Amino acid sequence: MEEKIDLLNQKIAEAKLGGGEDRIKKQHDKGKLTARERINFLLDEGSFEEIGMFVTHRSTNFGLDKSTFLGDGVVTGYGKVNGRLVYVFSQDFTVMGGSLAEAHAEKICKVMDLAMKNGAPVIGLNDSGGARIQEGVVSLGGYADIFYRNTLASGVVPQISAVMGPCAGGAVYSPALTDFIFMVENTSYMFVTGPNVVKTVTHEEVTSEELGGASTHSTKSGVTHFTAENEVACINGIKKLLEYIPQNCEEESPRVNFEEDQLIREKLNTIIPENPNQPYDIRDVISEVVDGDSFYEVQKDFAENIVVGFAHIGGKSIGVVANQPAFLAGVLDNNASNKAARFVRFCDCFNIPLLVFEDVPGFLPGTDQEWNGIIKNGAKLLYAFCEATVPRITVITRKAYGGAYDVMNSKHIGADMNFAWPSAEIAVMGAKGASEIIFKREIKNADDKEAKWKEKEAEYAELFANPYNAAARGYVDEVIEPKQTREKLIKAFDMLKNKVDQLPRKKHGNIPL
Ligand code: HXC
Repeated sequence: MEEKIDLLNQKIAEAKLGGGEDRIKKQHDKGKLTARERINFLLDEGSFEEIGMFVTHRSTNFGLDKSTFLGDGVVTGYGKVNGRLVYVFSQDFTVMGGSLAEAHAEKICKVMDLAMKNGAPVIGLNDSGGARIQEGVVSLGGYADIFYRNTLASGVVPQISAVMGPCAGGAVYSPALTDFIFMVENTSYMFVTGPNVVKTVTHEEVTSEELGGASTHSTKSGVTHFTAENEVACINGIKKLLEYIPQNCEEESPRVNFEEDQLIREKLNTIIPENPNQPYDIRDVISEVVDGDSFYEVQKDFAENIVVGFAHIGGKSIGVVANQPAFLAGVLDNNASNKAARFVRFCDCFNIPLLVFEDVPGFLPGTDQEWNGIIKNGAKLLYAFCEATVPRITVITRKAYGGAYDVMNSKHIGADMNFAWPSAEIAVMGAKGASEIIFKREIKNADDKEAKWKEKEAEYAELFANPYNAAARGYVDEVIEPKQTREKLIKAFDMLKNKVDQLPRKKHGNIPL
């Protein structure tokens, strides 16, 4: 028996070495951790249980029969993060560049299947040269097997991807199908075709970093949700995200300790500038309203005219969606609509109540917006709110104009409670534009056109630039002093905690993609 145990231990040691010491050194020299180091850092100490350590490839093509690596370039298993079960796979770049083929894919599929059956998140740590070229079509099949499971798992268990190295070709589509993507600055890349192919086809000269680095995907494409300056920060980010989300679609997010604190927040009464055209930072409002420093912003550098993220309020997890008057006056455009729609849908999938702060002058006009589909993209956000059955509360801090009023979680599309601050202006458009249109003839015929225009603008503003018309019709449930907001929200979310609401029976809806 002793000999047999020795053999087992030898094999375990061999598997743990992955592609060998030289390649591990290369990995470290690039500022990257190994697949196992990443797992150790992610999971609670001693909690990792590995599955499939001795799996090897079966192909004999191009000399593959002469070099076999135990584990086939991916470490898979389960463990705990802050005491909660997660399933994990971590690609090992030291083994054939973490390339994915038949056996490697089967290992990933196995943990995904377990995650689905047992209702716990899947975390994928990606570091791979893509499809293993030597194995041909079975590599492509392996990817497709994963994509299929990503799609079936969507909305059932949270799926989180960290891209911690190259991620090229079709390999990007597994992370893209998951709920959140983390990238590491300067060491991770995502692109469908790399710089060489780009140069051949379009004659563009572009570096990997420019084409698909973390900063590109966090600011330009919006593909990534979080970026981190190094791998340790990236893994800490994943752990933090898990604090806000439930294990699966049947559960609630974990509650965190909450000690009753100052509910009345005087600072909120002075945040809105006297001049309605002056910007302010909506994050100042969010941080006054939620518990401590619990706000965890998602996609913070993309479509900055809308702010989305998780927070705790009264110890409970919520999703916050807020127009940002400090950027493009908080207007809704294509990117903002897409960003917010996806976030709303995630929250609704996983029973996370929604809090909306509204200060929006409308949709952004222009050919760029129209030709890039603002009709379709704005409709996505509208659709996402309409179909959300989680508790939904809106606070109108200032402007709620035009179609954007309807879209931003209005009562009419199913919000449960709508509060407005006395500074709220709820109207078809701003007083200036409105008076220009409806009093055009009167202004044209007046002796002093400027004075007439001012008079009519004031008349319109008096009538509509306030929350009381909407409150008179019940479109706003209560007009509150800003300083009361935190208290009102804690009570309202508590009142809504047992909300049950269902969509009409259907196979699935057809969101305007
Ligand atoms: C097999 C691969 C590999 C791959 C890398 N390696 N990619 N082996 N299949 N796809 C191996 C290398 O041979 C090398 O082996 C080791 O991994 C490390 O690679 P290096 O090139 O030395 O590393 P580096 O200089 O850091 O460059 C990393 C890289 C580059 C940028 C990822 O290796 C690369 O461009 N690889 C090919 C990328 C690619 O075209 N993949 C296919 C995409 S198409 P040794 O033994 O020397 O250590 C695709 C289709 C999926 O994925 C479709 C799904 C629908």
